[in-house]
Amino acid sequence: MSVATEEIAAVGAHLNEVYPMLPFTPVRGTGVFLENAAGRRVLDFYGGHAVAALGYGHRELSETLARQSRELVFQTNALPLKVRDEAAEKLAAFGPAELGRVFFVNSGAEANENALRLAFKVTGRSKIVALEHSFHGRTAAAAAVTWGAAKSWYGFPRTPFDVAFVPRNDDAALAAAVDSSTAAVIIEPVQGLAGAFDFAPEFLHATRAACDRHGALLIIDEVQTGMGRLGAPFGAQLYGVRPDLLTVAKGLGGGFPCGAVLMPHSIATTLKPGALATTFGGGPMACAAIKTVIEVVNRDNLLANVRNVSAAIRATCAVGPVTSIQGRGFLLGLKTRPRAVAVRDALLARDILVGTSADPHMLRLLPPLILSKDHVQRLAAALEDLTDAPL
Ligand SMILES: Cc1ncc(COP(=O)(O)O)c(C=O)c1O
Repeated sequence: MSVATEEIAAVGAHLNEVYPMLPFTPVRGTGVFLENAAGRRVLDFYGGHAVAALGYGHRELSETLARQSRELVFQTNALPLKVRDEAAEKLAAFGPAELGRVFFVNSGAEANENALRLAFKVTGRSKIVALEHSFHGRTAAAAAVTWGAAKSWYGFPRTPFDVAFVPRNDDAALAAAVDSSTAAVIIEPVQGLAGAFDFAPEFLHATRAACDRHGALLIIDEVQTGMGRLGAPFGAQLYGVRPDLLTVAKGLGGGFPCGAVLMPHSIATTLKPGALATTFGGGPMACAAIKTVIEVVNRDNLLANVRNVSAAIRATCAVGPVTSIQGRGFLLGLKTRPRAVAVRDALLARDILVGTSADPHMLRLLPPLILSKDHVQRLAAALEDLTDAPL
């Protein structure tokens, strides 16, 4: 297998250097391939960090955005929009049956920030229970329930409310942490940044039961796992766990920035005008993209594709430096004997882009939902090629 000449990862002089960057500068994309100005094509198992649900240059998504931009690029939530109503209807139908109302926002962190606000408001309580190794976003409340943030990058002088972190899959610790002061438990059905750590389904059910015992809400953070990534519309449906609030972003608009909080009518009807608000959330471009993403996922059977191709990854990619595979659907963690960054760099030199995670020995795959078995064969071959590489 040939090894490509690497570019230098360079950042413009006026950008903050807060992101470690990889040595590849894409200028366009088609399907699951990214291409640089010199025509080098890279097979993308990273999906713009779980965002490019339909891959790149998707004809219908591009046409939708072009058409909507000609008709109406933006309009405020103070005016009704047909496209917003339609996007909400489609998303409510795609999500868990009991969550019939949608509040649109702009990002995953904003979705979680509002879900937490709602939990405090609905219950009148002051504590949140979160999971060790979780990631919920960078805003003040979302980061307060993110494991380890306060000790490293949190940045605010104090967190805004009490948070109890419990070890993963520990039913007893969770049962002990949830009490009559708990407004909500917040959990990712598969922890993304942690390296695609999939909870025992029994633990997710025990979490629901603990919430029920004490009248706490269950917030399922599906910012990364949602929109079909796990091979079901959402993890809540995959595991049969009923959320009180569900948050989604990333793949929701297939690359157009947007997020949403899904909630039942029982919560939505307690909200008075002004209780929640955002300027850009629910804008026409985002809503047109959301509609199209859901239509394409349903029409092209992408959930079944995720399940089938994920099985092929599991069957063929525990080779070379990879010792085992965890996660669900297209949120997979590949355990590596050498450091994961060394394997990632070696794969990129072979024109395959993968992600890393908080675990230094776990690669993360978050490919577009349109990935096929041919692409998996290329990854498996590249990993085999690294069997004796000095990484
Ligand atoms: C599970 C989860 N929640 C929340 C977020 C935050 O989303 P955003 O970066 O859109 O604010 C992320 C982002 O990686 C995430 O993976």
